[in-house]
Amino acid sequence: MTEPFDLNHWCAHHLQRVEQALDTWVSVDATADLDHAAPAELMVAMRYAVLDGGKRLRPLLVMAAFEAVTQGMRQAGLAVAASDEELALRAACAVELIHAYSLVHDDMPCMDNDVLRRGKPTVHVEFGSASALLAGDALQALAFELLTPDNAAVPASRQACLCRLLARAAGCAGMAGGQAIDLASVGRALSEDQLREMHQLKTGALLQASVMMGAACGDATAQARQALQTYGAAMGLAFQVVDDILDVTADSATLGKTAGKDQAQDKPTYVSLMGLEPARRYAQTLFQQALVALAASGLPDTRALQGLASLLVQRSS
Ligand code: IPE
Ligand code: IPE
Ligand code: MG
Ligand code: MG
Ligand code: MG
Repeated sequence: MTEPFDLNHWCAHHLQRVEQALDTWVSVDATADLDHAAPAELMVAMRYAVLDGGKRLRPLLVMAAFEAVTQGMRQAGLAVAASDEELALRAACAVELIHAYSLVHDDMPCMDNDVLRRGKPTVHVEFGSASALLAGDALQALAFELLTPDNAAVPASRQACLCRLLARAAGCAGMAGGQAIDLASVGRALSEDQLREMHQLKTGALLQASVMMGAACGDATAQARQALQTYGAAMGLAFQVVDDILDVTADSATLGKTAGKDQAQDKPTYVSLMGLEPARRYAQTLFQQALVALAASGLPDTRALQGLASLLVQRSS
């Protein structure tokens, strides 16, 4: 008989691991073995951007995909290396660092010009634009450093695979590309295809990569990889559809960022394109697509991935 599954308990356990790992890895101490330690002021801005806030949905997706795949491996009689457990935690933190960097830059005056993030003044408000720019740059580099541990137990091919997945999702054909389209689309009405493309790149790519990186820390079957790819694509798009909805329906205190910004800045969103109720229905449709994909994965236990999908579309912040 399968054991009962408690999503809250599962999330609390993994959040605690991720918070602790971020606290350890985003620190001056973590650079102590290098010839030159990081300047303390830069590290203060980096830690401000990463710690004490954030739902950590991307790291949770990494952990859930890794668990689902490794349960499948164990069921097939395959061993899971302890070094892969640690690699999954590194991947979870790496994705969060890229995400945190993207938020720091997204909030800058040259982009969305936001003053509130995760319930605190944004990094450029607190430390100035030059420090915000550099903190973002340094977080991005640190993400890739985390994926390449000096540990012979982690095969170089696995490290390279993780770097490729993350670089693709963060770069010109992923988050950065989507952000460029976002800025170029201010005041323009996009078609549904164009809006989907923009959302898939700016937000969907990194969420999908979170799922695929979790899977890449273990040995997923081709069937599972294909299903997780579809699940990640659906959830990645759904995530930004819900972000568009919350910008209209939630208040700044709940969101921890300024509500109503999309309309104020004349950004094309799913709400401006189709209206609030159709946007909600679309998020539900994507959620169902994600569940259908999981059901076709051949993985023995996808309850954490299912739970995260429902949390992601039902969230209020
Ligand atoms: C906000 O992401 C920015 C988008 C990509 C839409 P999250 O809603 O995941 O932000 P945090 O990490 O919880 O602050
Ligand atoms: C940002 O999208 C996506 C990123 C790559 C950071 P938004 O501009 O809609 O995110 P929020 O609403 O400021 O969090
Ligand atoms: Mg933006
Ligand atoms: Mg923004
Ligand atoms: Mg938004």
